[in-house]
Amino acid sequence: MEGDDGEQYLFKIVIIGDSAVGKSNLLSRYARNEFNLHSKATIGVEFQTQSMEINGKEVKTQIWDTAGQERFRAVTSAYYRGAVGALVVYDISRRTTFDSIPRWLQEINTHCDTTMAKLLVGNKCDLENIRNISVEEGKSLAEAEGLFFIETSALDSTNVKEAFEIVIKEIY
Ligand code: GTP
Ligand code: MG
Repeated sequence: MEGDDGEQYLFKIVIIGDSAVGKSNLLSRYARNEFNLHSKATIGVEFQTQSMEINGKEVKTQIWDTAGQERFRAVTSAYYRGAVGALVVYDISRRTTFDSIPRWLQEINTHCDTTMAKLLVGNKCDLENIRNISVEEGKSLAEAEGLFFIETSALDSTNVKEAFEIVIKEIY
C-alpha cells in the first residue's frame, strides 16, 4: 500500500545487546508473532521487513538482528550502515547484560550518527521472580544516556509491538 502521493519510506533498525537477552525472539514476536523457548544463538545477520502505516503513508522497516557473541558477529560497520534506529537490549534477570549497555552504546556511537533513535529495552519482564535490575535502574540509565526506555517480554508479548513502534515513530 502507498500513501496518496505514492511515497514510500524504508528505515533500517538494528537490534543489539549481549547474547541470549532475547533479540531474535523480540524480532520474531514482532514480525511473525512467534516465540521459541529453545532458540539457538544467532550466527551472522538476519533481517525482516515490516510495514506499518503512519499518517496514511506506508512505512517499511528493515529490522536487523545479529549475534551478541563476538565470534558469531558479522562485519560491524556493515551491520550499522544506514541504520536510523536501534533497540539496545538487556535481560532484566542478568546483571552482566545490563553492565554491557555502555559498551553497546559506544559501538553505536562509533558507527552511527548521534541523531539515531535509541531505545533501551529491558527484556524478559515476565521473569519478575528472578529480576535483578529494577525498573528505576533501567530508567535512570536511559535518562543518563539520552535514550527512550521500555521493558518487554518476547515470551508473553508485553510491549513488543510498542517497543518497535516507539523507534519507528521517532525516526518518522
Ligand atoms: P544471540 O543470538 O546469541 O545474540 O541471542 P539473542 O539475544 O538473540 O537471544 P534469543 O532470542 O535467542 O533468546 C535467548 C533465550 O532467551 C531463549 O531461550 C529464549 O527462549 C529466551 N527468551 C527470549 N525472550 C524471552 C522473554 O521475554 N522471556 C523469557 N522468559 N525468555 C526469553
Ligand atoms: Mg539471536
